[in-house]
Amino acid sequence: MTAALGPDEPGVSAAIRARHMVRAFTDEAVDPALVDELIDLARRAPSAGKSQALDVVVLDRPVDVDRYWTTTMTAQTRGRFRWQGLLDAPVMLIVCVRPTAYTERYAEADKARAGLGDATDAWPVPYWWVDAGAAIEHILLAAVARGLGACEFGVFDHEPAVRAEFGIPDDRRIVATVALGHPDPERDEPARSARRPRRPLSDIVHRGGWRGDGAPADDEPRPDPPV
Ligand SMILES: Cc1cc2nc3c(=O)[nH]c(=O)nc-3n(C[C@H](O)[C@H](O)[C@H](O)COP(=O)(O)O)c2cc1C
Repeated sequence: MTAALGPDEPGVSAAIRARHMVRAFTDEAVDPALVDELIDLARRAPSAGKSQALDVVVLDRPVDVDRYWTTTMTAQTRGRFRWQGLLDAPVMLIVCVRPTAYTERYAEADKARAGLGDATDAWPVPYWWVDAGAAIEHILLAAVARGLGACEFGVFDHEPAVRAEFGIPDDRRIVATVALGHPDPERDEPARSARRPRRPLSDIVHRGGWRGDGAPADDEPRPDPPV
């Protein structure tokens, strides 16, 4: 049975359509209670086995946000950085996951049959990344719904330095950083990637099979359906 749409479904759709990565912020502060509310919504994202392996390190301007940029950029690269407005974000969220939370959860009796409780390497799809992505999307959409802007970006080879600077434990991985604040559209501009055309729905949907024409993959005629 299809669930009825909730009264706020159009709001979710509107937030999805309005969302884009914001790379310039005003100097207006963000209420810490609002930041907590966004993280509370992230906490409600689905996770495999309800493993709930998310942690978020919240950095406020000026001191901790500055520590972040000092850790990931030299004074020279900072001065030349293309997205100067991103450096003005009043809040930064370092989003972390604990992959071993998943092996622990899948070693429990109700999940042991999946055979995923021994090692993270055994996971054909490492769901901690999937679930962290879902949680981050909750933050991005909730930010839009509250009139804020956000930008998710990769930490890449700065992960060890960021982990050391903010005391993030070794069993956590940093998935991404989210800059958060009030958008400054005057100074914002889309990144090159954002200007790439969106793939059309017809390219993405494969109804009834990959070819989308209902034919079996090997072109063999389909057996008669059972009567
Ligand atoms: C996992 C992830 C990592 C990203 N990393 C970066 C990044 O390092 N730098 C950046 O400028 N944008 C980054 N982005 C933003 C994408 O470039 C952006 O989402 C994409 O161009 C589509 O634009 P839109 O989100 O504004 O619609 C990242 C997005 C995701 C989902």
